[in-house]
Amino acid sequence: MNFELTISPINEINASIELIVVVNKNLKHDFIQDKKLLKKAGFKAEQDETCLLITKNRLYVGVDSINDENLRVAMAKAIQALSSTKYKTLKVASYLENKDSSSTLRAMVEGLLLGSYAFDTYKTKKSKQPIKDIIISLEEYHAFELDMEACANAIELGQITADATNFTRDIVNTTPDDCYPETLANIAEGLSEDFELECKVLKPKQLRKEKMETLLAVARASRHKPRVIHLSHKPKKPKAIISLVGKGLTYDSGGLSLKPGASMVNMKLDKSGACAVLGIMKAVAEMNLDIEVHGFIGAVENMIGGDAYKPDDVLVAKNGKTIEVRNTDAEGRLVLADVLGYAQQEVEADYIFDFATLTGASVVAVGHYTSSIMGNCDVPKDLVIEAAKASGELATKLDFNKHLRKCLKSNVADISNVSNTPYGGAITAGIFLDSFIDEENKNKWTHIDIAGPAYVEHTWGENPIGGSGAGVRMMIRLLEKLADK
Ligand code: BES
Ligand code: ZN
Ligand code: ZN
Repeated sequence: MNFELTISPINEINASIELIVVVNKNLKHDFIQDKKLLKKAGFKAEQDETCLLITKNRLYVGVDSINDENLRVAMAKAIQALSSTKYKTLKVASYLENKDSSSTLRAMVEGLLLGSYAFDTYKTKKSKQPIKDIIISLEEYHAFELDMEACANAIELGQITADATNFTRDIVNTTPDDCYPETLANIAEGLSEDFELECKVLKPKQLRKEKMETLLAVARASRHKPRVIHLSHKPKKPKAIISLVGKGLTYDSGGLSLKPGASMVNMKLDKSGACAVLGIMKAVAEMNLDIEVHGFIGAVENMIGGDAYKPDDVLVAKNGKTIEVRNTDAEGRLVLADVLGYAQQEVEADYIFDFATLTGASVVAVGHYTSSIMGNCDVPKDLVIEAAKASGELATKLDFNKHLRKCLKSNVADISNVSNTPYGGAITAGIFLDSFIDEENKNKWTHIDIAGPAYVEHTWGENPIGGSGAGVRMMIRLLEKLADK
C-alpha cells in the first residue's frame, strides 16, 4: 500500500473511491453530499459503521468525534469494507484538528494498514487487498501553514509502526510445526541481514556454558532444541540503553502438568512476547532511533516425553537461585528467569522491559484486550501506560504486595514456580520474575503480561482474529520518546 500526501482539493484528485468520515452522527449537515441515499441505506454514522455507495464510488464511515483513537479504528473498518471490492486507489481528506496535529495522520495510516491485515498463509485461496494507493488531501490547510515535513514524517512513522505490528502478527499466527525455536532465530538473523542490527544466537552448548539450566529443563522434552536470541541496534552516541526480553514458547502444551485439550488450543500464541520483540527491533532499525536497543528472546517448546522436566524437580537458575517446580505449565517464568539473567549480564541498561503471555490470570483480571503492567517502580510503568495510550493499545497497572510475595515460598528450594493461592496469579508470576532481577536493576525493570490481547479469536477495534501484535505499538512509542529526549 502506497501513501501520497497532496494539497490538491479532494475533488481534483483522481481515485477510484473516496472515503468520507462523518462526525457525531451529523448526517443533516449541508456538506454531506449523499444525505438521501445514506438515509435509504440506513446509515446512522455510528462509530465504525460503514456505508458503501457503489453508484457514487464513495465509502462513508462514522466516528463519534475526531481523535486519533476513533480515526485509527474507523480507517481500519473502512479498509475492511473494501476488501472484496475492485477499487484500487482511495482518496481521503486529512481530518487534522489543527495544523500541528500530524499525529492524526499517523493514526489514519496505522488504521488503514492494520485494518488491511489478513493471515492467509494456510488458505489455498489467498485474499488480496485491492487498494494499492491511498491519496491523502490536505486541502483544508494552506500548505505554508502546515509543516509538510512533519506530515510526511507522521505518515512514515505510521507505516513503520503498522508494518512492524503486521510482521509480528504473521509470526504469532504461524503454526508450531512451522515456527519453532530455530525458526525464530532464522527470522532474527534475517532481520540482521536486512537492517543494521547485530544478531547473536545461542544454541544448547552455549546455553549450558551460560548456566541457563532452567530454560534448558523446560526445553528438554522437545525435538526442537532451544535458542536464545540477542538482536541489537547500536547507534554511535545513544541517548539511552534499553533491553527488551520476550517469552518465546513456540508451543506450550503445559508439559507433564499437561493442559486440558481445550486450553491447549491456540498455544502457538505463547511466542507472542518474542514476536513482539522481533517487530519492535525491526521498527527501531527502520526508524534508526538514537537509542541503543537490545532484544533478547528465549525460544523454547514446552512438551511431554520421557525426558521431560517434572513437578518436584529443583532447578538452578542462571543467577544461582534454586526453584522448586510444582507445575510444568508455569514454564514461561522459568525461561524468563534465565533470559532476564542473561540480559542483565550482557547489557547495563537504563530500562528493561519484558513481554510475555505469562498467565491466564492476567486475562481473568483485566480481560482480553488489556496488557497488565507490573514492576517495582512507577517511572518505567508510567512510561508504558502513557505510550500505550498514545499508540492505541490498552494497558493497566497491577501492583505487587508483600502478602502475595509470601505465596511463592518453597519448603525445599529458594522459591516455588507457582503460588500457593489460586488468586492474583498475574501478580505472583510478576513477583516470581522480580526474584531474578538484580538489586541494581529493581527500579529499571517492567513486566508486561500480554496474555489477554496477544491473540483473540474475534476482531476487535483495528485488530484481526488471531495475533494482534500486542506490545509492538506501545513500545515503539515509548522508544521514540526516549530517543527524542
Ligand atoms: N502460556 C500460559 C499462559 C496463558 C494462558 C497465555 C492463556 C495466554 C492464554 C502459561 O505458561 C501458563 O500456562 N500459565 C499457567 C500458570 C499456572 C500453572 C500457575 C496459567 O495461567 O494457568
Ligand atoms: Zn504454561
Ligand atoms: Zn506459557
